[in-house]
Amino acid sequence: MTDTLTAPARLIPLEIAATVISPKAYAEDTSVHEAFRWLRANMPLAKAEIEGINPFWVVTRHADILEISRQNSLFHSGDMATTFTTIEGDQIVRKMTGGSPHLVRTLVQMDAPDHPKHRLLTQSWFLPQNIRHLETRIREIAKAHVDHMASLGGECDFVKDVALTFPLRVIMEILGVPPEDEPRMLKLTQELFGAADPEMQRAGAGEAGVANNMAALQAVVADFFMYFKGITDARKAAPGADLASVIANGVIDGTPINDFEAMSYYVIVATAGHDTTSSSTAGAIWGMCQYPEAFAQVKADPSLISGLVDEAIRWTTPVKHFMRSATADAEVAGQKIPKGDWMMLCYPSGNRDEAVFEDADRFDPTRNPNRHIAFGYGAHLCLGQHLAKMEMRILFEELMPRLKSLEFAGTPTRAEAAFVGGPKYLPIRYEMT
Ligand code: HEM
Repeated sequence: MTDTLTAPARLIPLEIAATVISPKAYAEDTSVHEAFRWLRANMPLAKAEIEGINPFWVVTRHADILEISRQNSLFHSGDMATTFTTIEGDQIVRKMTGGSPHLVRTLVQMDAPDHPKHRLLTQSWFLPQNIRHLETRIREIAKAHVDHMASLGGECDFVKDVALTFPLRVIMEILGVPPEDEPRMLKLTQELFGAADPEMQRAGAGEAGVANNMAALQAVVADFFMYFKGITDARKAAPGADLASVIANGVIDGTPINDFEAMSYYVIVATAGHDTTSSSTAGAIWGMCQYPEAFAQVKADPSLISGLVDEAIRWTTPVKHFMRSATADAEVAGQKIPKGDWMMLCYPSGNRDEAVFEDADRFDPTRNPNRHIAFGYGAHLCLGQHLAKMEMRILFEELMPRLKSLEFAGTPTRAEAAFVGGPKYLPIRYEMT
């Protein structure tokens, strides 16, 4: 990587820029973190110009990601694509939607004045004091998963056998999806997020270029919408206290939200609430296998479970980026950002920033404070963060006392995904009571 040091200032060397957007690099992990380390040290806020892609700023330092996320009227989420895409991909989406860069319009694609109004609909539902009532049911689901793990005879793929289905069941109960429909939801979520991973994408996606990929993605979104239409209708006819009812009967400025808005809401909760949490849950096990002293520490002191949860979320950082665009000429860390420019907030980089985290690559449940930014920051700060942390805490409260030993039983792999991803295959060997 030394020749990259001679590249012209402010324009990120192509090799590094290509790594930051490469799904394979996130699966491989070391190269993407090397690229981020180089950027933080040499070009923490610089532009990437890659053929076929609109130029974008790559934001890699913790402080700069916070600074941009905090100023949500200066840096909008919804004016350009909120996740990384190519020029061709963007054009296809705009053609499909009649001009919008978004296939769905959820909270993450909105800005003021719509964003705060839509967020307010469910904000109080997600508060810690409200979700506390879910604790008993989540513990039952966690116990069932731990029992299942114990029944597998001391070896399993933790991703497939525990991490994927645990948060899925929780989120589906919250949205009123019955257990028999879960496999369909799991497939749809993976198709939506894992669109770049050959093993996860829908048939047809990825084979014949961007157009097929986009068409496949649109078909996935259409499937989601069709499914949740039934749920909306049922909750309108008979509202309860669950989140699905809150969404279905939402009113903004005196007008009920329409079906498209309600269904976009289900899509964001179903998708954002699932893969992220399962990746972080698996990340905790991966971390404890790679760093056996972390396993020993948490075994010896169960009060470290909340530290384990935070560290797993930091170390895994399942959301790799969100994009912003400048609504006016701006300046961040002495760097001028012209109006209209597109910016990539690289959360995994912020979460390994050596200015904030000591020995940042190390998995350390005793890390305190742990000021990670895996949930974002500012107006779009993750609505589900308390729920995600509560789910993980409960699972590890049930699992850790029964887990007597833990180690890798093969070579684990990560998903090829430059947006949301984490462990894909995690073979482990363990003893349990
Ligand atoms: C470890 C698990 C999770 C991680 C790492 C995570 C990460 C994130 C991030 C980075 C954002 C910020 C988006 C932005 O700034 O543009 C976000 C927003 C959001 N998350 Fe999460 N999330 C997690 C779990 C959940 C769960 C469990 C739910 C719901 C059940 C959820 C629902 C949402 C929603 C609705 C938003 C949009 C908020 C807004 O735009 O106002 N997330 N999440």
